[in-house]
Amino acid sequence: QRLPFRLLTCQGTVAADLRGGERPSGSVETGSEDKTPKKRFSELQQERREQAQRSVLIHCPDKISEKKFLKYLSQHGPINNHFFYESFGLYAVVEFCQKDSINSLQNGTVTPSLRTEAAIPFRSRFFNLKLRSPSNQTSEQSSVQPNNQSPPSSKKLLESLCYAESVDEQLNTLLRAWQLTEESTRLRYLTCSLVEDMAAAYFPGCAVRPFGSSVNTFGKLGCDLDMFMDLDHIGKLDSHKNAGKFLVEYQVKNVPSERIATQKILSVIGECLDHFGPGCVGVQKILNARCPLVRFSHQASGFQCDLTTNNRIALKSSELLYIYGALDSRVRALVFSVRCWARAHSVTSSIPGTWITNFALTLMVIFFLQRRSPPVLPTLDFLKTLAGAEDKCIIEGNNCTFVRDLNKIKPSENTETLELLLKEFFEYFGNFAFNKNSISIRQGREQNKPDSSPLHIQNPFETSLNISRNVSQGQLQKFVDLARESAWILEQEGVDHPSPSHNQPWGLAALLVSSLASGKSSSGKKRRRPASERVKSLLESIRGPSADANADGKRTLS
Ligand code: CTP
Ligand code: MG
Repeated sequence: QRLPFRLLTCQGTVAADLRGGERPSGSVETGSEDKTPKKRFSELQQERREQAQRSVLIHCPDKISEKKFLKYLSQHGPINNHFFYESFGLYAVVEFCQKDSINSLQNGTVTPSLRTEAAIPFRSRFFNLKLRSPSNQTSEQSSVQPNNQSPPSSKKLLESLCYAESVDEQLNTLLRAWQLTEESTRLRYLTCSLVEDMAAAYFPGCAVRPFGSSVNTFGKLGCDLDMFMDLDHIGKLDSHKNAGKFLVEYQVKNVPSERIATQKILSVIGECLDHFGPGCVGVQKILNARCPLVRFSHQASGFQCDLTTNNRIALKSSELLYIYGALDSRVRALVFSVRCWARAHSVTSSIPGTWITNFALTLMVIFFLQRRSPPVLPTLDFLKTLAGAEDKCIIEGNNCTFVRDLNKIKPSENTETLELLLKEFFEYFGNFAFNKNSISIRQGREQNKPDSSPLHIQNPFETSLNISRNVSQGQLQKFVDLARESAWILEQEGVDHPSPSHNQPWGLAALLVSSLASGKSSSGKKRRRPASERVKSLLESIRGPSADANADGKRTLS
């Protein structure tokens, strides 16, 4: 029987598993509140990686019957999970139960023959599905419900914040609206896995792993995808290989330094992505940066990707943030709100510069939570004391040891509300002695600043480095002014608006609408206009026609 799609030839018949993809839970993978025991970061990474290796990415016709689509693909083996999403066209992520199904699918796939251009015949796991006889099927109703990959618009978000019952609920609403969904996480791991296939053409056995906000539980829908190419396990000496009378080494080319080796590897992978990588566009090799990288857009997933190599410390810091995010449910809610607030007021930016980064803000929130009494979060030094022999980790001479089993860390006794913590956060950093002190989540207390940079936040593992070296005095001052202003707004709010209002931005919503932009000097002095009047004009500003300019969620809140 002739099947409705081109692209594939049948490989026998395997019972179709037409089970639809599990719907997005939107829940944190760590399941800090509801799931015990909590999973280790490495376990999760391994599971996700394996899942991605059984998955494919398919560009679909705009109108497609989900049932027929699944039936067709199931000929290559049972499907465990799938979902559709839109990004300049309709795409599907399909996870097979077995890896073998992908070979079967690839064996039945043809390389397109083009009339005016020539195709580079690279066999990837990214396919194009075409209808054999479009006219027959376009009349069919498309039964596909694409998953939404972007955050809600600013307007929608502000509305839902105004409908919340308390500031605590507002912070949790924002977290739910902005955190990565199950689908976005799957797509991130799959994108890394597709890049790994390309890198493996040169370095069989390498792994391309996501790190940063895609995996540390602080990622927001639409955030960039940081990935690193892990070559560490290739041919490294282990006791197994060291047995016997002889030792065999690979013949290799030598270069003067680790940095030059990194640059050479990334250069070649960058070329490879640029020339052969389906859907990889705008490839830039930024090899002279402190941490050399290749930046590119992965068109189909819509992710801006930064690929590095030799970056195990950054993966370790992602694991540390993952642990902090999982220890207490208030942590992520607070970090998301502070990040959102910072973006709304242009304290952070999507382009690199002298701004504070999201990573810096996250460490500031963690530090603040370590300073509460009793502390909400333990210090990194304390997590090190809980580590067992199996947790020991030294990377490039830096001690990166800390306990990795979340279940070994006692929950905090601190019961402060999110509302109080948010206000106190602004208060704390509005009055912090940035001129003298450095922020260290390792010790959990202020340290003397070792240099004159305006903002000093110690890198948790490479302790001689300042992760906010880029921040200018002007940008720091802007942060301080806004923090004071925001502490004050929250204070006044408590006085002016004893009960939440549905038609005026209040609480977190009042903090997010541009307030300084409406004419306050940056002297840090408190505003004289009554808060109720200010909030009214803020409401007008989000209700007015200008609000539509922000409706894509990009200008103020993304
Ligand atoms: N990193 C670091 N030192 C820096 C900057 C970054 O160690 N000065 C590491 C951190 O582990 C960080 C990761 O690199 O999480 C990725 O950096 P970046 O993309 O800037 O931050 P994210 O945490 O991914 O946040 P965002 O959502 O803004 O991308
Ligand atoms: Mg990032």
